Formats: sequence, structure tokens, C-alpha cells
Amino acid sequence: MTEPGGARTLVLEGVSKRFPTGTVALTDVSLGLGPGDFVTVVGPSGCGKSTLLRLASGLERATAGSIDVRAASTSYVFQDATLLEWRSAARNVELVGELRGESKAERRKRAQEALDLVGLTGFESQHPRQLSGGMRMRVSLARALVAEPELALFDEPFGALDEITRLDMQTELQKLFRLKRFAGLFITHSVSEAVYLSTKVLVMSGRPGRIVAEIPVPWDYPRAPDLRHTAEFAALTGRVSHTLGEHS
Ligand SMILES: Nc1ncnc2c1ncn2[C@@H]1O[C@H](COP(=O)(O)OP(=O)(O)OP(=O)(O)O)[C@@H](O)[C@H]1O
Ligand SMILES: [Mg+2]
Repeated sequence: MTEPGGARTLVLEGVSKRFPTGTVALTDVSLGLGPGDFVTVVGPSGCGKSTLLRLASGLERATAGSIDVRAASTSYVFQDATLLEWRSAARNVELVGELRGESKAERRKRAQEALDLVGLTGFESQHPRQLSGGMRMRVSLARALVAEPELALFDEPFGALDEITRLDMQTELQKLFRLKRFAGLFITHSVSEAVYLSTKVLVMSGRPGRIVAEIPVPWDYPRAPDLRHTAEFAALTGRVSHTLGEHS
């Protein structure tokens, strides 16, 4: 966890968002995270979670409050893998290096390392349509990691995956987090996903969304998949679900 006054990668203070249509999506949201923080956000559909992430990434502007991003590089992982269909897995990941003007040798090497890290060794030359949904999401994660992000934003990246693949991806992601120690902000509808992945769960109320509870998660990384079957885990997911139920 970040110490008070320590390095902060992302700080939101009193952030509100009102769209020109009149919809108030967020009111008075404050949060801060730094390296080694993996914060998940759960809340009812339409409470402003994606809006929160879009504000943090600079895709939207807040109507009130301040947003301070102190990351040299930020990665954004969406619900669908958003890959370029005409490029192989490797060339999708290399795109990041291309945009940064890295040499061909350098970007190839870094793309290969990232693909190895997400368990796609041997699939480099396959095109997205030749990969399963889980593998496409792995390519998407590799593309996010190859940027060496200081801040990683995730908007329900595993929402479209089947349950078994989803649990696998959660296990992979927290291993990667342990290695890379970026500051992570992760949106999900799944309470158990939130608890398994994060250092802290933020619970949001129904629209207009505000943060109604901050629930710290105590376990070190890497986390064994079987953690999900322990009484401590059930107690914490129960607490998050209860809070969510009170405010939706
Ligand atoms: N560009 C926009 N213009 C107007 N209203 C918007 C815009 N984007 C989002 N909204 C509204 O803001 C509210 C919050 O939307 P948002 O997508 O942030 O919710 P969410 O919590 O991510 O929902 P879900 O869990 O279903 O993904 C909704 O009422 C939505 O209709
Ligand atoms: Mg959303």
C-alpha cells in the first residue's frame, strides 16, 4: 500500500462528472494510488465506473475536482481485446514499440518477452481470429505490459470470458502485478474477482456514483488460486457484497 504522502501515480480529488445531456455520472470521487497499489472498483451498472476510468485516462474531462496523473506511461485494457485483425499477435504487441519509434530488433525482443510472460509462446504468428477469446485477451494484456506502464487501467477486461478462462486470467494478472508493480485501477462487476486481485476494493453507490466504502485486502502476492475457497476470502467477499447491496 502507498504510505500517506508517498509516491502517488494517480490522484483524484472531489471529482464530479456531469454530461452535456444532464446525466450526473459521478459525484465527489477522491482516490489515490501509487506503485504496488491494485485498486478495484465495484458498483451497480451505470454508476459511473467506465466514466471514472475514462477520466483517469484523460479521455473525458471532469466537471469539478482535480485529476493528477504522474505516470510516464499509462496502459488501458478494455472489455474486448481491441486487436488489429490484420496483424499477427506479435505485430499487435509490437505496435507499441512502433509508435514509440523503437528499432525493429528492440520492439521484436520486447514483444516476445511480453508474449512469453502471458503464456503465448508459440502463438506469435497467429492472427486474432485464429485465437480463442482468452488468448486474445492475453495478447491485449501483453500489449498493455510491453508499454511498461506506471499506471494500468482495466475496464472489465475479463467480462466476456467463460468462468474457467476468467479465473485463469485473474491468476495470471496478479502474478504479473507482483512482477511489474504498476499502479492498477481495475473495474469489475465480480466481487470475487475484485477481492482476489486487489490491495483495496472501492464500492460505489448507484448513479450518481460516489465511493461509499474502501475495503482493504490483506494478502500478499502471488495469491494461490485456492485462496478463493477459504473462509477468510468468503468473509471479505461477503462484506463487499453486503456493502454493495446497501447502496445499489
Ligand atoms: N458520453 C456520454 N454522454 C452522456 N451520458 C453518458 C456518457 N457516457 C456515459 N453516460 C452516462 O453516465 C452514466 C454512467 O455510465 P458508465 O458507462 O460510466 O457506467 P458504468 O458504471 O461503467 O456501467 P456498466 O457497469 O454498465 O459498464 C450512465 O447513466 C450513462 O448513460
Ligand atoms: Mg462500464
